[in-house]
Amino acid sequence: MGVPASEKEIAYGTSIVYPGKVGDEYFMTKEHFHTVLDTAEVYYCLNGHGYMLMENLEGDWEAQELTSDLALYVPRRYAHRSIRIPASEPLVTFFAFPGHAGHDYGTIETKGFRKLIVERNGKPEIIDNPKWKN
Ligand SMILES: [Fe+2]
Repeated sequence: MGVPASEKEIAYGTSIVYPGKVGDEYFMTKEHFHTVLDTAEVYYCLNGHGYMLMENLEGDWEAQELTSDLALYVPRRYAHRSIRIPASEPLVTFFAFPGHAGHDYGTIETKGFRKLIVERNGKPEIIDNPKWKN
Protein backbone atom coordinates (compact mmCIF):
# COMPACT_ATOMS: atom_id res chain seq x y z
CA MET A 1 0.00 0.00 0.00
CA GLY A 2 2.96 2.33 -0.65
CA VAL A 3 4.15 2.43 2.96
CA PRO A 4 7.92 2.99 3.37
CA ALA A 5 9.80 -0.22 4.32
CA SER A 6 10.79 1.14 7.70
CA GLU A 7 10.40 -0.29 11.19
CA LYS A 8 8.77 3.01 12.08
CA GLU A 9 5.90 2.32 9.65
CA ILE A 10 3.08 -0.24 9.44
CA ALA A 11 2.52 -2.03 6.13
CA TYR A 12 -1.03 -3.16 5.47
CA GLY A 13 -3.35 -4.53 2.83
CA THR A 14 -6.09 -7.00 2.02
CA SER A 15 -6.04 -10.53 0.71
CA ILE A 16 -8.84 -12.39 -1.10
CA VAL A 17 -8.92 -16.16 -1.58
CA TYR A 18 -11.65 -17.37 -3.94
CA PRO A 19 -13.40 -20.75 -3.76
CA GLY A 20 -11.64 -23.72 -5.26
CA LYS A 21 -9.27 -26.64 -4.80
CA VAL A 22 -6.14 -28.08 -6.39
CA GLY A 23 -6.55 -31.82 -5.97
CA ASP A 24 -7.85 -32.14 -2.40
CA GLU A 25 -6.10 -28.95 -1.18
CA TYR A 26 -8.15 -25.78 -0.83
CA PHE A 27 -7.12 -22.54 -2.49
CA MET A 28 -4.66 -20.66 -0.24
CA THR A 29 -2.21 -17.79 -0.14
CA LYS A 30 1.51 -18.37 -0.75
CA GLU A 31 3.27 -19.37 2.46
CA HIS A 32 6.02 -17.12 3.72
CA PHE A 33 8.26 -16.12 6.58
CA HIS A 34 9.09 -12.48 7.03
CA THR A 35 12.58 -11.53 5.84
CA VAL A 36 13.09 -9.96 9.27
CA LEU A 37 12.13 -13.16 11.10
CA ASP A 38 11.50 -11.42 14.41
CA THR A 39 8.39 -9.59 13.18
CA ALA A 40 4.75 -10.49 13.82
CA GLU A 41 1.57 -9.78 11.86
CA VAL A 42 -2.07 -9.13 12.65
CA TYR A 43 -4.91 -10.42 10.49
CA TYR A 44 -8.56 -9.45 10.66
CA CYS A 45 -11.07 -11.59 8.82
CA LEU A 46 -13.54 -9.40 6.96
CA ASN A 47 -15.49 -12.16 5.24
CA GLY A 48 -15.59 -15.91 4.69
CA HIS A 49 -14.25 -18.93 6.51
CA GLY A 50 -10.86 -20.60 6.57
CA TYR A 51 -7.70 -21.29 8.51
CA MET A 52 -4.41 -19.58 9.18
CA LEU A 53 -1.70 -22.24 9.10
CA MET A 54 1.48 -21.27 10.96
CA GLU A 55 4.81 -23.01 11.50
CA ASN A 56 8.21 -22.01 12.87
CA LEU A 57 11.68 -23.27 12.04
CA GLU A 58 11.71 -25.45 15.16
CA GLY A 59 8.71 -27.38 13.83
CA ASP A 60 6.01 -25.99 16.12
CA TRP A 61 2.83 -25.46 14.14
CA GLU A 62 -0.69 -24.21 14.66
CA ALA A 63 -3.89 -23.93 12.61
CA GLN A 64 -6.30 -21.23 13.77
CA GLU A 65 -9.75 -20.81 12.36
CA LEU A 66 -10.54 -17.60 10.47
CA THR A 67 -14.13 -16.44 10.62
CA SER A 68 -15.78 -13.14 9.87
CA ASP A 69 -14.94 -10.37 12.36
CA LEU A 70 -12.21 -12.38 14.07
CA ALA A 71 -8.73 -10.97 14.72
CA LEU A 72 -5.74 -13.29 14.62
CA TYR A 73 -2.13 -12.82 15.68
CA VAL A 74 0.72 -14.45 13.76
CA PRO A 75 3.64 -14.57 16.21
CA ARG A 76 7.09 -13.46 15.08
CA ARG A 77 9.25 -16.24 13.58
CA TYR A 78 6.23 -18.12 12.17
CA ALA A 79 5.64 -18.80 8.49
CA HIS A 80 1.99 -18.37 7.64
CA ARG A 81 -0.66 -18.80 4.95
CA SER A 82 -4.43 -18.43 4.87
CA ILE A 83 -6.56 -21.23 3.47
CA ARG A 84 -10.15 -20.90 2.40
CA ILE A 85 -12.49 -23.80 3.20
CA PRO A 86 -15.88 -24.44 1.58
CA ALA A 87 -18.39 -21.66 2.07
CA SER A 88 -20.33 -19.51 -0.28
CA GLU A 89 -18.10 -16.47 0.17
CA PRO A 90 -14.47 -15.62 -0.64
CA LEU A 91 -12.09 -15.44 2.33
CA VAL A 92 -11.18 -11.78 2.75
CA THR A 93 -8.63 -10.61 5.32
CA PHE A 94 -7.00 -7.35 6.28
CA PHE A 95 -3.39 -7.61 7.49
CA ALA A 96 -0.81 -5.32 9.07
CA PHE A 97 2.87 -5.84 9.90
CA PRO A 98 5.99 -3.77 10.60
CA GLY A 99 7.04 -1.86 7.51
CA HIS A 100 10.53 -3.36 7.40
CA ALA A 101 9.41 -7.03 7.81
CA GLY A 102 9.60 -8.03 4.12
CA HIS A 103 8.53 -11.38 2.65
CA ASP A 104 10.66 -14.50 2.49
CA TYR A 105 8.90 -17.02 0.25
CA GLY A 106 12.02 -19.06 -0.55
CA THR A 107 12.81 -20.63 2.84
CA ILE A 108 9.60 -22.64 3.01
CA GLU A 109 9.00 -22.98 -0.72
CA THR A 110 10.91 -26.21 -1.28
CA LYS A 111 9.63 -28.26 1.66
CA GLY A 112 6.33 -26.52 2.37
CA PHE A 113 4.53 -26.80 5.67
CA ARG A 114 4.67 -29.95 7.77
CA LYS A 115 0.89 -30.04 7.71
CA LEU A 116 -1.69 -29.69 4.96
CA ILE A 117 -5.38 -28.84 5.24
CA VAL A 118 -7.23 -31.01 2.74
CA GLU A 119 -10.79 -32.00 2.05
CA ARG A 120 -11.82 -35.44 3.30
CA ASN A 121 -15.43 -36.56 2.94
CA GLY A 122 -16.45 -32.97 2.26
CA LYS A 123 -14.79 -31.58 5.40
CA PRO A 124 -11.43 -29.93 6.13
CA GLU A 125 -8.87 -32.21 7.76
CA ILE A 126 -5.29 -31.51 8.89
CA ILE A 127 -2.88 -34.16 7.68
CA ASP A 128 0.91 -34.68 7.59
CA ASN A 129 2.41 -33.34 4.38
CA PRO A 130 3.60 -36.48 2.57
CA LYS A 131 6.24 -34.44 0.71
CA TRP A 132 7.78 -32.98 3.88
CA LYS A 133 11.22 -34.30 4.72
CA ASN A 134 13.79 -33.31 7.35
FE1 LIG B 1 3.16 -12.12 6.50
